[in-house]
Amino acid sequence: MIPASKIAEINNAARVEEVVGEYVNLKKRGSNLIGICPFHDEKTPSFSVSPAKGIYKCFGCGKAGNPVNFIMDIEQLGYIDALKFLAEKYRIEWPKQEQTPEQITEEKRRQDERERLQIVNNFAERYFEDVLWNDDEGKLIGLSYFEERGFRPETIKKFKLGFAKDSWDHFTNAATGAGHNLELLINGGLVKRNDENNKTYDAYRNRVMFTIHSISGKPIAFAGRYLVKDVKSPKYVNSPETVLYHKSNELYGLFFAKQSISKNNLVYLVEGYTDVITLHQAGIENVVASSGTSLTEGQIKLLKRFTENVCVLYDGDAAGIKASLRGTDMLLEAGLNVKIVLFPDGEDPDSYCQKVGGEQFGNYLSDAKQDFVLFKTNLLMQDVGNDPVKRAECIKEVVNSISKIPDVFKRSVFLHEAAKILNTDEQLLINEANKNVRDNNKKQPVDQQQLATINRLEAQEQLLNVAEELKNNDIQEKDLLRVILNYGSKPYNENFTTVASYIFHELNAEDVILTHPIVSKVINEILEKLQDPLYEISTADFINHSDPLVTVLVADVLAAEPEISPNWSKKIDEIIEPIGHNYKQDVDSCLIRLQLRNIDRLIEENRKVIADEEQNGNIDQVEIHTEVHMHLIKKRADLAHKTLTTILK
Ligand code: CTP
Ligand code: MN
Repeated sequence: MIPASKIAEINNAARVEEVVGEYVNLKKRGSNLIGICPFHDEKTPSFSVSPAKGIYKCFGCGKAGNPVNFIMDIEQLGYIDALKFLAEKYRIEWPKQEQTPEQITEEKRRQDERERLQIVNNFAERYFEDVLWNDDEGKLIGLSYFEERGFRPETIKKFKLGFAKDSWDHFTNAATGAGHNLELLINGGLVKRNDENNKTYDAYRNRVMFTIHSISGKPIAFAGRYLVKDVKSPKYVNSPETVLYHKSNELYGLFFAKQSISKNNLVYLVEGYTDVITLHQAGIENVVASSGTSLTEGQIKLLKRFTENVCVLYDGDAAGIKASLRGTDMLLEAGLNVKIVLFPDGEDPDSYCQKVGGEQFGNYLSDAKQDFVLFKTNLLMQDVGNDPVKRAECIKEVVNSISKIPDVFKRSVFLHEAAKILNTDEQLLINEANKNVRDNNKKQPVDQQQLATINRLEAQEQLLNVAEELKNNDIQEKDLLRVILNYGSKPYNENFTTVASYIFHELNAEDVILTHPIVSKVINEILEKLQDPLYEISTADFINHSDPLVTVLVADVLAAEPEISPNWSKKIDEIIEPIGHNYKQDVDSCLIRLQLRNIDRLIEENRKVIADEEQNGNIDQVEIHTEVHMHLIKKRADLAHKTLTTILK
């Protein structure tokens, strides 16, 4: 648990315009800022930020909230992680969990090492870049190599590509000369030590350099590619595992891709660094690389935070494809929808895109895209021929893959399709698959980490649902919340000292039931706080509430419609008085609308009772309830009349 005071500290520090401003280009419009919504595709800006209130709202897609909600959504983080993210941004110390002294020392040591290695890596990234752009050797060899590969200068800069000179100690000298510790350089894999003579030397020599960035854009590892094919040394020299870099939990390019992945709800998965870079340059930004090795659980989990749609771009050769089928099965197992695109023999995404150009490449992706399960079925079928044993194996293999799909509906669709391709009885496949599913379920141990992921995903889903609900939910209840938050502590009349006391009295007297779970949660909290006679209702308390579902709702309710145009708003001001000036009228009409809705509900319920009693032949009851009906109808008419006079008053 993090203390509420810490949450408050973070909420107070986080300026909505600063947090949003890092992702959205904001322009001033009246007292608000406005920009293109990062959560849906639009051409004219409908994303509005209110620095005064500390909230944002998109009038196009309905997303709303405070800075924490924004980070949850855009970085796809859970609530606590979003708070942590902001704490880091605003340099607020994150509370340490209670630990034993040994744990504290160990944790501190690791943290220190991470920080120190990060500083070293920052230096190395700048060094390799600097050599590429400013050193004669770098320019002549490195820069021209990248140019030859079709990388434009802005692309080279964006991905922070660099060059390591053909020297045993140029980097080591530069780094130690700048005060970096030699042991740390060795730990980070930038410098190597020869065990026999204890001499040290640069790990990367005469190579073009790729920086591997963390999800937040920090340089955590490096890869150096040789310039000419050389049997004696590997094509890529990669950083070892360090305190900063766990290869199996990273995806190359994710930092540059994450926004586009969320926006397109799709990620392209490629093999190599150069594939990522070339596709980016061609305007396809939702692409990451597994860096040659087969996918790991950690990488799949990472992807799942951003999308459930994966499109795998395979290099051409068949042997390679068969080898990577297993890794792709893991994607299915994780519940992802998997598509696949193959390239002509000898081409990888990079070479093909450079060859045909971005536009044609994009077309190729959509044309050549096929469903992975069906692709695999077809591929395996090709080898079967007339051999019945092979055929049985093929069926087994296909059903195995399909059984890994967690969603039962998706499974049955695939079994249906596969039966057609395999030319076999669908029921047979279904039985086989069900058996597999049962076996798989038995085998699966409960993975704590997986559980945590699920919890976080659920929390996010809830958040999404609320946002979704906000678009078409109960307008009257939301309006009630708006009125209470804005005017609750203002005076009402001689009988009711405050608007809130009047509202609560009316709600009680009219038996109004609130059904929106979060509106009622907030209203109940207000009621509780009002037990303290000195409490004044303040919107800020709720904009920065500790429950992210509350903050989303409150932001939505409090965000004012953006001004249509400066001239328009002036005209509107002349016609309508600003709402705040006539708040009592605002309160009254809000309550009447709520009561109207309440009566409608009662009428509907009563109608059902009448129908039931009629069916059972209880004439007495029918009469009584018909009277109730007339009474309700009259009351409704009175109320409707009152609404008219309130509005016209
Ligand atoms: N890889 C590696 N070490 C190697 C070979 C490959 O780490 N010795 C990883 C790299 O991440 C590389 C990816 O596997 O990007 C794919 O390898 P490959 O297709 O051989 O390289 P490309 O990225 O296509 O590089 P290039 O186009 O420059 O040949
Ligand atoms: Mn390549």
